[in-house]
Amino acid sequence: MTTALCPGSFDPPTNGHVDVIERAITAFEEVVVAVVDNPTKSSLLSTEERVSLLKELFGDRARIGSFSGMLVEYAAEVGADLVVKGLRTVDDYEYEMQMAQMNRHLSGMETVFMATKSDWSFISSSLVKEVARLGGSITGLVPSVVEKALEERLQ
Ligand code: PNS
Repeated sequence: MTTALCPGSFDPPTNGHVDVIERAITAFEEVVVAVVDNPTKSSLLSTEERVSLLKELFGDRARIGSFSGMLVEYAAEVGADLVVKGLRTVDDYEYEMQMAQMNRHLSGMETVFMATKSDWSFISSSLVKEVARLGGSITGLVPSVVEKALEERLQ
């Protein structure tokens, strides 16, 4: 059985993340979605809120967790065979390639890249937060449960 780990900040989860996770669920026998808990990075949603949203979205089809520290250590803890990351742009490629190579150097962990659907290639969590903070519409950029959570947080 192949277990794939989809890690991320997910602050908030976007339709781009949903697309990649859905496709990972189709491609691999088991999927773990993990929120990085990074106390040095300020986030709009708490780790618990992000985990809870991901559970609402995928709880019946994937294991949802969080981790702090090294991704490769968490991957070993949950028995993941590989990491899945989405690629939107050339900028993503450079950063993601470096992380993938570092993780392979550290533990031999492989990373599989999924090309994000072109419909979502312009969406990032940071831009979604910026639009929401400035009062713009984020409908169609994030799942409705996420939209509701952001509206409540920013009202
Ligand atoms: O959604 P993001 O912000 O692109 O996710 C980045 C994430 C969580 C995959 C990355 O920050 C990460 O792997 N953090 C754990 C720290 C780590 O293992 N660093 C060393 C290897 S690159």
